[in-house]
Amino acid sequence: MDDALFFALHEGLPRQAPGSDAVTQDAVRRLRAHGLPDDPEVLDIGCGPGRSLMMLARVTGGRVTGIDIHEPFLGEAQRRIDEAGLGRRARVERRSMLELDALPAERFDLLWGEGSIYIAGFDAGLERWRRLLRPGGLAAFSELTWLTEAPPAEARAFWADAYPAMRTEAANRAAAERLGWRVLDTVTLPDSAWWDEYYRPLEARIAEWRERYPGDAARAAVLDAEAAEIDLRRRFGAGYGYVFYLLRRMG
Ligand SMILES: C[S@@+](CC[C@H](N)C(=O)[O-])C[C@H]1O[C@@H](n2cnc3c(N)ncnc32)[C@H](O)[C@@H]1O
Repeated sequence: MDDALFFALHEGLPRQAPGSDAVTQDAVRRLRAHGLPDDPEVLDIGCGPGRSLMMLARVTGGRVTGIDIHEPFLGEAQRRIDEAGLGRRARVERRSMLELDALPAERFDLLWGEGSIYIAGFDAGLERWRRLLRPGGLAAFSELTWLTEAPPAEARAFWADAYPAMRTEAANRAAAERLGWRVLDTVTLPDSAWWDEYYRPLEARIAEWRERYPGDAARAAVLDAEAAEIDLRRRFGAGYGYVFYLLRRMG
């Protein structure tokens, strides 16, 4: 797929992965029960246009740094911060999640990532980013997850190509525990978190592009791939989901 066209299609959408403000708030509330401090230092990894960043700045009572590599998303996040007057609680910087070894150890109380840890790899992210947390620090990562051991063949074939590393919740839990984390809780995102702020706005953008660029083969390839993912969700959504893994650094 043409990456530049993919990003252009996605720019200006409310969020870049399934999620919702309610889910972000609920995850913070659950982590409070596990000792999240009142004024935590938070790192939002792959923050995109900053929807979770803004919610974290509002509800954690701490300071949130969002990192991403796509400048237009960082620009959108910065605009949201400015418009809300949250500059003292939230900031963004251009930094790759693959190069976080340069950050000082034990700098954060909370690591966050909505629909982004897959870019580093679930296991590699958990392994490499653990050092960024103070001992006993907390993390929340949402990750595409099989919700059944026997998914429908069509869904299995689609994700075998699009995201072959996808595993079940049990396998992800076991991996996290093996890598020095305790799994405190998991939350499967409701179906509405896929549609309301992600797939429906994306579908509207797809329809707009189809009308605006008839006969553009490069664009049509991107639009067809995105539409196929959405169609799969409509038909086989029960077999897979986004699961939020709420974790504590052990040791
Ligand atoms: C699926 S989107 C999720 C964005 C955001 N968390 C949200 O829920 O709207 C993944 C994000 O990771 C960013 N990204 C891709 N590669 C990255 C890298 N190496 N380092 C940091 N961010 C990266 C993309 O630009 C994109 O914003």
